[in-house]
Amino acid sequence: MLPQLYLSYGAWAENIGLSGVAHFLFAHSLEERTHMTKVMDYILSCGSAATITAIGAPPENPDGLNACFQSIFEHEANNTKSIAKVVKMALEEEDWATFNFMQWFVKEQVEEETLVMNIQNSLKITGGAKVPGEELYTFDKDMGKLKA
Ligand SMILES: [Fe+2]
Ligand SMILES: [Fe+2]
Repeated sequence: MLPQLYLSYGAWAENIGLSGVAHFLFAHSLEERTHMTKVMDYILSCGSAATITAIGAPPENPDGLNACFQSIFEHEANNTKSIAKVVKMALEEEDWATFNFMQWFVKEQVEEETLVMNIQNSLKITGGAKVPGEELYTFDKDMGKLKA
C-alpha cells in the first residue's frame, strides 16, 4: 500500500506543478518498495513461501499539501502499528530470528515518522493551508533536495 500511496501522490504533485514534492514522493515510493522486498527476501531465506497478493488502490488525491502529508503521516503511523504487531507475535512465538529482523523496521519507522513530521513542520512555517506562491516555490525546491 505505501509504495502505491507515495507513487499516486507523486503523480498528483507533478500534475499540479510541484516537481520537487513529486521527486521526493517518487523516490520514497521506491524506498517503500525495497521495504516490501526486504520482507519477502527474509521469508524466502527462512525457506518459506512468499505469496504475492494484490495491492489495494491508493486513496483519492489530496486537496492540498497539508492533506497530502497528513494522510502520509497517518499511513506511516498505521504501518508502525502493523510492525509492532509482528514484533509482538515474534516475541510470543519466541521466534528470535524474526524478532531480530524486525528491529530494523522498528528503527526505520521512527525515521519515517520524523521525516514526515519535519515536512509538516516546514509546511506550517511556510504558511500552513495558504502557502504563499513564493514560499511554495522555495518549499518545493527544498523538497526536491530532501533525501527520501
Ligand atoms: Fe515508510
Ligand atoms: Fe526511510
